[in-house]
Amino acid sequence: MTRLLRKVVEGIGQSEANGVHTGIDVIGDLAIVKFSHGSIQVRERVGEKILREMGNVKGVFEQEGGIEGEYRLRKLRHLAGERRTTTLHKENGCRFLVDIAKVYYSPRLSTERLTIAMMVRDGERVLNMFAGVGPFSITIVCRRRASVTSCESNKEAYRLHLENNMMNKVAGRITTINADAAALPDRLEGKFDRILMPHPSRADRYLGAARRLVADGGVIHYYRHISAEDFDQAKSAILHELREVQGLRSIEVRKVREVGPRWLEVVADLQLSRN
Ligand SMILES: C[S@@+](CC[C@H](N)C(=O)[O-])C[C@H]1O[C@@H](n2cnc3c(N)ncnc32)[C@H](O)[C@@H]1O
Repeated sequence: MTRLLRKVVEGIGQSEANGVHTGIDVIGDLAIVKFSHGSIQVRERVGEKILREMGNVKGVFEQEGGIEGEYRLRKLRHLAGERRTTTLHKENGCRFLVDIAKVYYSPRLSTERLTIAMMVRDGERVLNMFAGVGPFSITIVCRRRASVTSCESNKEAYRLHLENNMMNKVAGRITTINADAAALPDRLEGKFDRILMPHPSRADRYLGAARRLVADGGVIHYYRHISAEDFDQAKSAILHELREVQGLRSIEVRKVREVGPRWLEVVADLQLSRN
């Protein structure tokens, strides 16, 4: 349990405190907390406590269940403070408008977004197949002279991505498309030096499309949620999944984060051969 979480649950019973089970995510000035058990009254008390302890938080929501569906959305219940679900989140020197009820956003990926941005070289042509409100794409163009194409199927995330492009003054360097990533090989001209696939629960369905769009010598960042005891097991599982991909020079597998008990998010960086 983090120091902050310990402070928040101080003074409520031990069993209820144990019910706050995955920490608190703060997105802009809104906090999202998950409980495994505990009465509504206890949950609301925790909400009020978060408001008191975390001066920058203006609204607290409980996340009921997992992050689900094609758009990867949370089911939220208001606990304390303001009821609005839109907020402005700052990350890696960029600013993102987020609606926590209508789009996916996780502040736990900020390090990974910066890691990817630092891998990009000036002049690269980058495709982000699952762009959300733009945190990977915007972080890249804020740091590198690259051109990015962002694809997002959720209309609301696409709309916020366009607003975020303008707010970060990068609208001229990101082409933002509201489409199903499966349609990209038929819609896009030319090949990409780097393709991001940050949709870990479903990226496997789109690997064929990514393979058609990547340039010789290019890179695909393939994210997956893997059920495994440890990183070595997760690595074996993702390598097995990729065993039939043709034309690879190398694969490097990295751990991104833990997403649940015995569930890891990992990314395979696929380096394509030059013909
Ligand atoms: C796990 S989220 C990642 C979003 C973003 N990259 C981020 O880090 O915040 C996956 C995103 O892909 C979008 N998505 C899901 N299926 C898609 C599809 N077939 N084509 C394009 N986007 C899709 C979802 O709406 C969601 O915004």
